[in-house]
Amino acid sequence: MFINIISILFFLPFIFGNNLKNVYENQVQKEFLASNTYLTFAHRLATRGIYQGFAKFFFDSAEEERDHGKKLLDFYNVRNRELLFYDIKITDEIASMHNLTKMIQTAEQMERQVYDNLIEVRLAADTDKDYPTVHFIEQVMLEEQTTAVKYMHDLLKRIERNSDNSTILLQMIDQDLRKKQLKKP
Ligand SMILES: *[C@@H]1O[C@H](CO)[C@@H](O)[C@H](O)[C@H]1NC(C)=O
Ligand SMILES: *[C@@H]1O[C@H](CO)[C@@H](O)[C@H](O)[C@H]1NC(C)=O
Ligand SMILES: [Fe+2]
Repeated sequence: MFINIISILFFLPFIFGNNLKNVYENQVQKEFLASNTYLTFAHRLATRGIYQGFAKFFFDSAEEERDHGKKLLDFYNVRNRELLFYDIKITDEIASMHNLTKMIQTAEQMERQVYDNLIEVRLAADTDKDYPTVHFIEQVMLEEQTTAVKYMHDLLKRIERNSDNSTILLQMIDQDLRKKQLKKP
């Protein structure tokens, strides 16, 4: 019992020291998971051929998420810090999703999770007095993520408000996306 407490106290700094690395690795995983998810959605919509505007939107979003993941990797590369890559696993539900409203709901949820985890990274970096990482997360990552969350949220609310008539609305938004009148921020 006593020995256990001592060993816990001994390992505590290592546990906390690892926290930033863990949440940072989670962040990389979440960005690539979002990228793969959007790619799945884009592919499904493109093969069905009805919502080509949304297909393009998700292809572009997949590309952006991949860039976010890459930025996080590059930041660690220049600092000679190593990361571990864990499973980037898409659930069966996402893999077989064909309802566009559900796709947008999923995307909105993912963007919020990415945002929440970025806050965790920011806090852990601050605890470690790792101010370059604090700065990087705030200036490069959080700024963009805030607008991404807002965009998805507005899109979803617009669709949910018209849930009785959402097919017409989705087709209208799709047309706007094709004409690129609905620019991503
Ligand atoms: C798609 O999902 C939404 C939200 O769950 C639901 O209201 C709608 O009826 C679904 N549409 C189809 C075609 O199944
Ligand atoms: C559906 O949407 C169209 C176009 O916005 C509108 O003209 C129509 O009144 C709506 N129908 C219902 C039942 O809400
Ligand atoms: Fe992202």
